Amino acid sequence: MDWTINGRSILVTGGSSGIGKATAMALAASGGCVTITSRSASRAKAAAEEIRQATGTSVSTLVVDFASLESVRSAAARFVDTHSELVVLVNNAGVVKGSVSRTVDGHETTFATNHLGPFLFTSLLVDLLVASAPARVINTSSVAHTYAKEGIVFDDLNFRHRRYKFMEVYGHSKLANILHVQETNNRFGSRGITAVAVHPGVVRTGLGSGGDSFLVGWAERLGGRWMRTPQQGADTIVWLATEPHIDTSEGCYFEDRKPSRSTHHARDMDQASRLWDVSTRLTAGS
Ligand SMILES: NC(=O)c1ccc[n+]([C@@H]2O[C@H](COP(=O)([O-])OP(=O)(O)OC[C@H]3O[C@@H](n4cnc5c(N)ncnc54)[C@H](OP(=O)(O)O)[C@@H]3O)[C@@H](O)[C@H]2O)c1
Repeated sequence: MDWTINGRSILVTGGSSGIGKATAMALAASGGCVTITSRSASRAKAAAEEIRQATGTSVSTLVVDFASLESVRSAAARFVDTHSELVVLVNNAGVVKGSVSRTVDGHETTFATNHLGPFLFTSLLVDLLVASAPARVINTSSVAHTYAKEGIVFDDLNFRHRRYKFMEVYGHSKLANILHVQETNNRFGSRGITAVAVHPGVVRTGLGSGGDSFLVGWAERLGGRWMRTPQQGADTIVWLATEPHIDTSEGCYFEDRKPSRSTHHARDMDQASRLWDVSTRLTAGS
């Protein structure tokens, strides 16, 4: 079947603001049946209403907190119960925390929110993706994955024994986003799933400002007035969701609609496979 998102079911996490909202807006305008997620029903509703007013298309909402494995299980179950297909999953929700904190499950918050939660969410939706194949998984990663100089630190995933340096912690989680798509392709490519990761550029959003005053303005200082708009940041994600054929022969990490160079850690299939196994164990239900 030719690839089209017109009338097809699409799920964009972190669709209440920033890059996720701009992605959902563009995909809804292209005819997709979009669901957005947020931790807050009212933020999700407000974003859905803004998208409806701008595009004339209704968007559904799903409440989920990626920092809680129980919340992820419950949201995935609600989605599966109410949808018979899913052709594009955009794992976009993310945070950067200025200091160490732990989730209800005891994991470091940035790693849990940016990797473990989305990993579990994708795993719980993978049967629906396979049943809807061809289907795509798009992870919003970042050039910040280059800060993970040692690769995935398997003996200290939760930053219990190292000094907390926020860009290293964030970069580690964004490296995990790329390894997640590498291993998804390895395991599910033959079943019709194409998984890709994206660096959206340095984008003017609320990232880092959620109650974390230490971080307010860090991205601004980094990117200054050259920062992209959320719409510009969403461009490659939207392109990967809508383009009839995605060529991953040169890699599955994209920037500006082209494969981009990632670190050797991000291309290390042993790390990808090991991270998959460890993440499966860390997200297993009791
Ligand atoms: N901005 C940049 O320059 C840049 C660069 C590279 C990569 N990225 C990546 O782009 C993605 C989107 O970020 P953004 O820049 O658009 O920032 P943003 O405007 O702050 O958006 C973050 C989104 O994630 C959601 N979110 C945060 N914590 C969550 C949690 N615990 N559970 C569920 N949802 C959660 C937020 O929803 P609620 O608060 O409504 O729950 C919000 O919709 C992130 O993965 C980020 O790492 C951004």
